[in-house]
Amino acid sequence: MLKLPPPGTIEMAPSILSADFSRLSSHIVEIEKSVRILHLDVMDGHFVPNITFGPVLVKWLRPHHQLFFDTHLMISDAPKYAPEFVKAGSDGITFHLEAVPSPQDMIKQLRDLGCAVGVSIKPKTPVAALRPIIAAVDMVLLMSVEPGFGGQSFLLESPQRCREIKAMLRPDQRLEVDGGIDPTTAPIITAAGADTLVAGNAIFAQPNPSAAIAAILHSCRR
Ligand code: DX5
Ligand code: ZN
Repeated sequence: MLKLPPPGTIEMAPSILSADFSRLSSHIVEIEKSVRILHLDVMDGHFVPNITFGPVLVKWLRPHHQLFFDTHLMISDAPKYAPEFVKAGSDGITFHLEAVPSPQDMIKQLRDLGCAVGVSIKPKTPVAALRPIIAAVDMVLLMSVEPGFGGQSFLLESPQRCREIKAMLRPDQRLEVDGGIDPTTAPIITAAGADTLVAGNAIFAQPNPSAAIAAILHSCRR
C-alpha cells in the first residue's frame, strides 16, 4: 500500500470524475508523470445525488498505475464499503463526517485496514465539528463545492474555512481541498493553507491534462 506524500509540498490530485471513462487508463497515463496522487470520487446516489463507480474500478486500475489512490467516499455506508475499496487497491480512504454514526469507530476501522485516513466536511458543516477527531487523521478534505458533481464554481467562503482547519492541524497532516480548483482559485486556497489540490474539470476536461496540471501548480508559485 502506498503512503501519502510527506507534507511540505503542494500536490495535485486529479479527479477522474471529469475523465473520459472509455479511455480512462490512457487518460491516467497522460498525467501519471506529473502527479503522485489520483483522486477517486465514489458516489452512491444517496449521500449525494449522483452515482459513479465501486471497488471493481479500483481493482482494474490498480495493477496499471503506481499513483496513491485517494478514495473519496461520498456514500452513506462508508463502514460497510471501505474494506472493499482497500482490498481492491485504495491507498487512502476519506469518509464524510456527515455520513458516519461514529467517526472514531470509522477511523479505528481504517487504521486496522492499514490505509491512510482522511475525513471530509461539506460546505455547510461547521469546521468545529472536526475538532474531536482531527488529531487522529492523516488528512482533512475540505469541500469547496457541494459534493456530487464536477465543474461547479469554487465557494468563496472556502479560504476562510481552510485557514481555520489549517490552524487545527499538525505539520504532519495534509489539508486537501476539492471543488472548483483551477489556476485562479489554486493560489488563493494554497495561500490559505491547502497543500493537496483536487481538480477534475481543470485537468481532464482540458486538451492537454499534464499542461493543465503544470499551469495550476505554476499559479500557486506566483
Ligand atoms: C465533487 C467531487 C470532486 C470533483 C471536483 O463532488 O468530490 O472531486 O471531481 O471536480 P472539479 O475540479 O471539476 O470541481
Ligand atoms: Zn472528490
